[in-house]
Amino acid sequence: MRKFFNVGDIGDIAAALEEAREVKKNRFAWKHLGENRTIMLVFFNSSLRTRLSSQKAATNLGMNPIVLNIGQESWKLETELGVVMDGDKGEHLREAIPVMASYCDIIGVRSFAGLKDREYDYSETVLSQFIEYSGKPVISLESATVHPCQAFADLITIDEFKKKARPKVVLSWAPHPKALPQAVPNSFAEWMNAADVDFVITNPEGYDLDPKFAGDAIVEHDQMKALEGADFVYAKNWSCPGVNNPDDYGKILSKDPSWTIDAKHMAVTDNAFFMHCLPVRRNVIVSDEVIDSPQSIVIPEAANREISAQVVMKRMLESLK
Ligand code: CP
Repeated sequence: MRKFFNVGDIGDIAAALEEAREVKKNRFAWKHLGENRTIMLVFFNSSLRTRLSSQKAATNLGMNPIVLNIGQESWKLETELGVVMDGDKGEHLREAIPVMASYCDIIGVRSFAGLKDREYDYSETVLSQFIEYSGKPVISLESATVHPCQAFADLITIDEFKKKARPKVVLSWAPHPKALPQAVPNSFAEWMNAADVDFVITNPEGYDLDPKFAGDAIVEHDQMKALEGADFVYAKNWSCPGVNNPDDYGKILSKDPSWTIDAKHMAVTDNAFFMHCLPVRRNVIVSDEVIDSPQSIVIPEAANREISAQVVMKRMLESLK
């Protein structure tokens, strides 16, 4: 495996889930695979889960993880080509990437969407440069449009908790005070479309996800109707994807509190499990009573980030041999 961005990169979903089960049963079984190998984890943005789970997964495999927080522990990096670098950015990705690559075998990159220029974000400008200039396998640790390690962990969690062969999974937009990227819902949609589930997306008008990720999912703008009979409710905020009006890209079009997932929403489901990628704003995205209920599986979901990361790193190490 040379890159991990999209669901297609993992290949057969059932095989990936089986491998995840094997890894979870004995996560130290491959502790020699990463001997004398180094993974560079490059963060342009903050993280709790991704940073810790990636380091843990790499360590389980016997790798040496190096974490670099760009701008805090390094020079500020210029990401755009052809600019006159007379501002506050002291180094360009064009040099920084091959230098970082010379010290490692695998690179993971977190680089969020800027939410200013749809074309720049949706062409994954930063991640693409890591592929082009590193010559190493590259993992998206949440890039401009995707968060595949999260979506794979979400799929593992649904597989573990499902009570039906083909559960109904609902991705619901929820309000948030800040404009957030679409990476998590994009990847979740992409992975759920590939999984053996009935998948429904619900969001206010103007928030429809890019068809590249939404695929053939049912989109229902009536949230309560969408939630009826759900087995899993996955709440997430995202800013306007700008599908119908590119001028609205990255904007907040609604803060409607009626979309906050609370007991009344969960009551119309089939005793659904509640999921969120975390971090989550309590009583904005989800009420305390829902996230604190026995149906909330946000902690095992986060714990599975270690497993999804380990499967991906394991496959990359195997392809290096
Ligand atoms: N879900 C997730 O990626 O969490 P962090 O932003 O804390 O890494």
